[in-house]
Amino acid sequence: DNVELGGYEHYMLKEIHEQPEALRNAMRGRLDEENATAVFGGLNLTPQQLRGIERITLTGCGTSWHSALVGEYLIEELARIPVEVQYASELRYRNPPIENNTLVFGITQSGETADTLAALRETKRKGHRTLAICNVVGSSIAQAADGGVYLHAGPEIGVASTKAYTSQCCVLTMLALYFGRMRHMSFERGQEIIEELHRLPGAVQQALSCDLQVRDVAAKYKDATNVLYLGRQFNFPTALEGALKLKEISYIHAEGYPAAEMKHGPIALVDKATPSVFIIPHGTTYDKVMANMEEVRARGGPIIAIASHDDPQVDSVADDVIRIPRVPEFLQPIVSVIPLQLLSYHVALLRGCDVDKPRNLAKSVTVE
Ligand code: G6P
Repeated sequence: DNVELGGYEHYMLKEIHEQPEALRNAMRGRLDEENATAVFGGLNLTPQQLRGIERITLTGCGTSWHSALVGEYLIEELARIPVEVQYASELRYRNPPIENNTLVFGITQSGETADTLAALRETKRKGHRTLAICNVVGSSIAQAADGGVYLHAGPEIGVASTKAYTSQCCVLTMLALYFGRMRHMSFERGQEIIEELHRLPGAVQQALSCDLQVRDVAAKYKDATNVLYLGRQFNFPTALEGALKLKEISYIHAEGYPAAEMKHGPIALVDKATPSVFIIPHGTTYDKVMANMEEVRARGGPIIAIASHDDPQVDSVADDVIRIPRVPEFLQPIVSVIPLQLLSYHVALLRGCDVDKPRNLAKSVTVE
């Protein structure tokens, strides 16, 4: 075990730190500079079939469902294809009307999640084309789908998914680029996205340097019984994922919400003992999220902010500010989740929880 842990105390911490490399592996051989697009060897669909896609459904469970939500923002914004996200466990028993030219993606680290497998089989039976975004080569879901994209993230052993999640987001970004370039996206825009993707592993590496600071923040809030996670647009799924990570391994109740929805309920929970984690990097909704943060402050709620490295404004409102490098909004989910993974890790550790094998959870859920 020690060899495999490579000097890290836990698999989860090792896998968190492997993310720059995992992202490089996900991108290797898939960025085509010459044509300013992405290439995928295993989609098994003709360019004509792919160009004819009018709708995309993304499905998965747990953390993979969160990357599906990121995918929804990515594909709609970069490729302008309407996307629907479904929990696999719901999709398998729904009987949605079949629309022509819908492509269904099953997103899964293990490739063995029973609900995702069943959802994919059911949609395939009804005539949809199905693809898998999967980490484990040759897994049941990889085999059941018509084709797919492997993450190449390497084995993920910690029950709480980390590097598989960011790799899924990265693959979905490349798919959005690919579909976008088949349609309206300009050569220049494609090139810009590729350049930003090349910079991404470095940005994630930089984000990882917040580890020591996050440990201090974790010590401050480890005894909380409720934590709110708030973010908007590309960072709304990040809020859900941050909350899930905390729940999974530290057993603290946490809720993720779109920041602006706060006033429709969660704000009632705000008090001195309930910290709020705001994911507030620069971007189109920055001012609005800042206003939400001020509302929490006015009610005495402690605030942890995940903010861009060069944002001077946030210090006056938040109690603790964790800095991340600037990346374009569509890549923020991959960078802003890093401190949240570390926060849940350190809180769990300080509470004496079994980080790699949390109670009641399994790495892959092969029952309904
Ligand atoms: C379990 C794991 C989660 C994971 C989910 C989906 O609940 O504990 O970490 O996100 O299954 O797994 P999959 O392998 O399909 O991504």
